Amino acid sequence: MSAKGAIVTGGAGVLGQAIAAQLTADGFEVTLFDVDEAAVTQAANRLSASSGANASGYRVDVSDPDAVREQIARLEHAGRRLDCLVNNAAINPRLPLSGQTPDAWDTTMAVNVRGPMLLCQAMRPWWQRHGGGRVVNVSSRTWLGGGPTAYVTSKAAIVGLTRTLAVELGSLGVTVNAVAPSVVETPLTRAGRTEEEFEQFAARHRAMTPLGRLARPQDVADAVAFLAGERAAFITGEILHVCGGAQLAPTA
Ligand SMILES: NC(=O)c1ccc[n+]([C@@H]2O[C@H](COP(=O)([O-])OP(=O)(O)OC[C@H]3O[C@@H](n4cnc5c(N)ncnc54)[C@H](O)[C@@H]3O)[C@@H](O)[C@H]2O)c1
Repeated sequence: MSAKGAIVTGGAGVLGQAIAAQLTADGFEVTLFDVDEAAVTQAANRLSASSGANASGYRVDVSDPDAVREQIARLEHAGRRLDCLVNNAAINPRLPLSGQTPDAWDTTMAVNVRGPMLLCQAMRPWWQRHGGGRVVNVSSRTWLGGGPTAYVTSKAAIVGLTRTLAVELGSLGVTVNAVAPSVVETPLTRAGRTEEEFEQFAARHRAMTPLGRLARPQDVADAVAFLAGERAAFITGEILHVCGGAQLAPTA
């Protein structure tokens, strides 16, 4: 039988690449989706070259229902297995309530929440035909409170989506879980901050973390791979905090 297949959205990003590399090491044939075509092609080529595996990358805007449906159909037509979905793509315009606009709000929700729903909807028939699957959603520790309004709301919505889809898809043999990482140094967390502002932000987060450091991409990749793997077969509807205990601390 061919290798299990996994789709990783936001696959050109820092966490997406780390997750894709770990899933590849665990034996999945990985397909990357990202809105940045050049970056996702390069990421897939790098992964194939470094692992010897057959990774592929496609430009897919996860908020676009037609693009999602069509790309999933193409993969199915090509005989690609669709066992596992990692909903990792997200944006963070980082606006407080006072600066929020309807457009920025809707775009954030479209990418961060509608996208994961559309992917699950498009892959559901494959899971039904093949007796199950795995979904790992990437939320954020910020869902517990404190942070940019739309982003935090979207990451709390992912918790709701995870729990409700765990119930709805359970009878198909699909597990649905989420990881909630703390701050990792990536373009998403650096954007809009000077070097000094980022350092202050990082120091605040280290101080509120019992284990005393920021998250690393591999911390997140390991947690995702666990939830995508055989050892997590009877775990569903869970939110796994990958944040060194920062979920226990007051928010920064
Ligand atoms: N970096 C952190 O500190 C941190 C902490 C907690 C959670 N997260 C979550 O981890 C995930 C990955 O974040 P990252 O830090 O690697 O960010 P990143 O910016 O490096 O990667 C995000 C990727 O998503 C892609 N993307 C954006 N809009 C898209 C769309 N409409 N369709 C498809 N792809 C799209 C981007 O092009 C980018 O490659 C996100 O869900 C984020 O919320 C990150």
